[in-house]
Amino acid sequence: MIEIKVECGGGYGVFIEKGLLRRADELLCAYAGAAKYCIVSDGNVAPLYLEAVKARVLALGAEVSEFVFPAGESNKTFATVGRILEILAGLHFTRSDCLIALGGGIVGDVCGFAASVYMRGIRFVQIPTTLLAAVDSSVGGKTGVNLGSLKNQVGAFWQPSLVICDPDTFSTLPEREYRNGMAEVIKYSAICAPELADKLDGDICEIIKTCVQIKSDIVSRDERDNGERMLLNYGHTFGHAVECASDERIPHGMAVAIGMMMACRVSERLGICGAEVADRTAALLSAHGLPLEADEFSAEMLYGAMQNDKKRAGSKVTLVLPRRFGECALHTVTMDELRGIMIGADR
Ligand SMILES: NC(=O)c1ccc[n+]([C@@H]2O[C@H](COP(=O)([O-])OP(=O)(O)OC[C@H]3O[C@@H](n4cnc5c(N)ncnc54)[C@H](O)[C@@H]3O)[C@@H](O)[C@H]2O)c1
Ligand SMILES: [Zn+2]
Repeated sequence: MIEIKVECGGGYGVFIEKGLLRRADELLCAYAGAAKYCIVSDGNVAPLYLEAVKARVLALGAEVSEFVFPAGESNKTFATVGRILEILAGLHFTRSDCLIALGGGIVGDVCGFAASVYMRGIRFVQIPTTLLAAVDSSVGGKTGVNLGSLKNQVGAFWQPSLVICDPDTFSTLPEREYRNGMAEVIKYSAICAPELADKLDGDICEIIKTCVQIKSDIVSRDERDNGERMLLNYGHTFGHAVECASDERIPHGMAVAIGMMMACRVSERLGICGAEVADRTAALLSAHGLPLEADEFSAEMLYGAMQNDKKRAGSKVTLVLPRRFGECALHTVTMDELRGIMIGADR
């Protein structure tokens, strides 16, 4: 079993192994140890894995309940969080009890946010069932919901107590969702692990380990996202704009892929990197079935969507731009400069 320590919050472990769900009780007992658990999941994941997780919790002699909400970004809302909070109150959950997020990034973000506010914070466990959640959203403690079309506009930093990652769960993941996760994997490679790009068809546990280790190192140094952690937003500032402009039709990972290509072109235009970075990135993304552009949106439209981006501090926005493949740096520009760069880069 692979174990990675994350030095955030109280510090916690990310455990990775095929078939690990079957041993979830051992980990829950050692790292959560609650009397009551509530498993939060979505309508796609629950029929596949909820009973198995429930059985492991019952094996501990703990009480277990569940809350299942319909899958999809449109349910990543206050309303869903509100329903979870009401259920917890109805079950007389106390601060010694524990939530379990069983699902992808949406379940993790919603469940984590509910955990962060219920009685001013109770513990929660992440059981990621998508590649994206395994390599990214289940680690680092960002939780939250959307506010209308504003992605992740409201939330809290709230670290899980434990992450249980069983890559066997990816066997039921739609191909498209797997590709979404690969976009985040390629992101890690492009930020600081160029050697990972040559191992993308290798052991999935090793791939997840490399990504989680990078995320753990970065968030341990900058939990609150004031500096270095912003590097993890590579492709995301532009990607969020694509997600918003498409009304969530283009999912997160694919939007990030498009966003990384936009960042490459902007970086090239600013003279920060050469054309080979975009070429290498495009080759990797294409090889994993990821899109390189979203023709239907003009630079003007995407710029409009970016004006709403919460990462913009005042009139400025911090972009993550590649210097070469495997090395990125932060670059702050004014919104006016960004407008010029984007519209120029679009030509
Ligand atoms: N908190 C963070 O740091 C962070 C980081 C990245 C992304 N996110 C958020 O994560 C979300 C995207 O996460 P995601 O890509 O995991 O999406 P998701 O949670 O919507 O899961 C994708 C789809 O796959 C289904 N699914 C999940 N696991 C499955 C399985 N094992 N078998 C079959 N179907 C399965 C889900 O029901 C859903 O339909 C976005 O809301 C994004 O904002 C958060
Ligand atoms: Zn992401």
